[in-house]
This record gives sequence, structure tokens and C-alpha cells, in this order.
Amino acid sequence: MAEPRPRVWVAQPLFDDIVARLHAHFDVVQVPAVVEHDAAAVADALREADGALVTLNERVGEAEIAGAPRLRAVANLGVGYNNLDVAALHARGIVATNTPDVLTETTADFGFALMMAAARRVTEAERHLRAGRWQGWNFKGLLGADLHGSTLGILGMGRIGQGIARRAAGFDMRVLYHNRSRLPADVERACNARYVDFDALFAQADHLVLVLPYSAASHHIVDAAALARMQPTATLTNIARGGIVDEAALADALAHGRLASAALDVFEGEPAVDPRLLALDNVVLTPHIASGSLATRRAMVALAVDNLIAALGAGPDAGRPPTPIAPAGRDAKRPGTA
Ligand code: DGY
Repeated sequence: MAEPRPRVWVAQPLFDDIVARLHAHFDVVQVPAVVEHDAAAVADALREADGALVTLNERVGEAEIAGAPRLRAVANLGVGYNNLDVAALHARGIVATNTPDVLTETTADFGFALMMAAARRVTEAERHLRAGRWQGWNFKGLLGADLHGSTLGILGMGRIGQGIARRAAGFDMRVLYHNRSRLPADVERACNARYVDFDALFAQADHLVLVLPYSAASHHIVDAAALARMQPTATLTNIARGGIVDEAALADALAHGRLASAALDVFEGEPAVDPRLLALDNVVLTPHIASGSLATRRAMVALAVDNLIAALGAGPDAGRPPTPIAPAGRDAKRPGTA
């Protein structure tokens, strides 16, 4: 009798024409609609699975894999993988992969777009106009801050942070960064960026962008004390993970004029957004779309599909998924960068 084909779980609707490549090798269980899976639903879906293609909506940790004896590979759609307990997966010999590189430029573009929107009050001005509050051209109305000639601060100088730094050259910005480890001199030169310590970054940036991975070490690293170091004219943009920022402290700083404005694409309790942030005019809010250009989202799915096929021992790269997540402490691409 023929061996049964491996079974893979595709946790969210993606692009059918790309996911179709999985059908050549595996039996595919495709979730038909966007859904927020709780731990029990993930555990249930993984019970009979050999592999899974998941998004940040699916947490995969010890509890979810406990009843999944066949599971051999989990391909995550995203460069960030804080939804995976990588140590628990590796302890079971399960390969975990993510999708770096393919989203770098798109995410850097969006970081810049958000920073500009916060500085120049773009969404606030649009709400003003749409609400019929525009009574005529007002010379001193809705004045914002310049990007050109200002100081850009980047916290987390990985691939995306470097992409943002490169863009800043076109705006004549002075670029400061802080990272867990300092970049080699040639990379600093290419980015025209200067390394400073955490406190100096917060104190000197006119526009500060967060691009670091989320972990226990970066949880609420932007807290009331860090925000208090910032200039009251400064902006803060977060395209990393919501849990990096203490949202209550941020809302407080924005409400009391201790920070000019913020732009947030990510939130600690996604999809819930702190009502104090929703009530403020000086914060730009978007629903976690930084990597969301059509081309990039397709490239992310293609890479995750390649990873899953190879990790399950099929296809031309059998056994060699293109972008595996290394065990902690052995990451060639340095944890601490995105
Ligand atoms: C990423 O790649 O980490 C994005 O936030 C989407 O998950």
C-alpha cells in the first residue's frame, strides 16, 4: 500500500495559486476564512499534521504541540516569530522557519510613511477635513514638524532599520541608532548612521522608529522613563511589535504634550487597541500592515511554502529550508535585529 501523504495545515487564507504548490507534495487542510485561533483550535489542527503554515494569529508553543506527534515543521509568515516558542519546537526536533528579507524594503517604506504621517499630522488633517471642520485656509492650522534636516533615531538596526536609514539620506536626516550590538563600520558607513546608547537615542531623536524584535528583554522597553527622555516635539513610530511599548505610558505622554505625536502599526492586544489611544488625535493608527504590499505578501507566502516543502523533505531543497530559525544563541543574523 502507498505511504499516506504528509498532511499540512494552512492556518489562514493566503494566495491559492501559491499555496497550490503544497498540493503537489501534501494533503492540505486549508482554513477557508480569516480567523483568530485560540490555543485549543491550534492544538486540534496540529494533532494530525506533519507541517503547518501559520501567521502571527497562531501561537505555537508547548501546549499546542503536545498532542501533535507527527509535527515536523512550522513555517511562519513573518520575519517576527514571537508567536512561536522556538525553544519548545526545537526541543521536539520540529523545524521552524520565518520570512526575512522579502519584506525588508516594503516594511521600511511603510515605516517612513507612518513617520511622515505623524510628523505632518496627515491622518489628523484628513479627519478634520472629512468632519467638515475646515472653514478655510488657515495659515497656522495643523502645523507639523519637518523630517528634512532633523535627527532620525532607529531602535533595532537590523535589515528593516538599515532600510529606513538608507531612505533617510534622501531627506538629509542625521541618523542615530541603538542596537544590542554595534554594526560593523562598513555597514554604519553605508547607512550613514551613528551608534549611540539607548538614553542618548531617546533624548536626541526628533523622530524615533522602533524596529526591534519582541522578546522578554524588549517587553515595554519603551516605558514611561524612556518616553520622559524624549523631546516634547518628537514623534515615535512603532512598526515592530506592540508589546515593546507601554501603551498606557505612551497615551499619557501624548495626552499631556510630553510627546508631539506617534504612529503605531502594532498593538499589545491586537486586534484590540487601547481606548486611550483611539481617543487621541495626535496618534496615527494602522492595523499591522507594514509588510502589506501585494507583491511582498505574495513573496512571503512563496518563501513560507518553499520553507515548508523543504523542511518536510520534499522538493529540490529537501531538508534545507531557505530561512530556518536558528536555535537561540546561534542566529547568524543576530537576534536583536529584524
Ligand atoms: C512580520 O513580518 O513580523 C510582520 O509583522 C508580519 O507578521
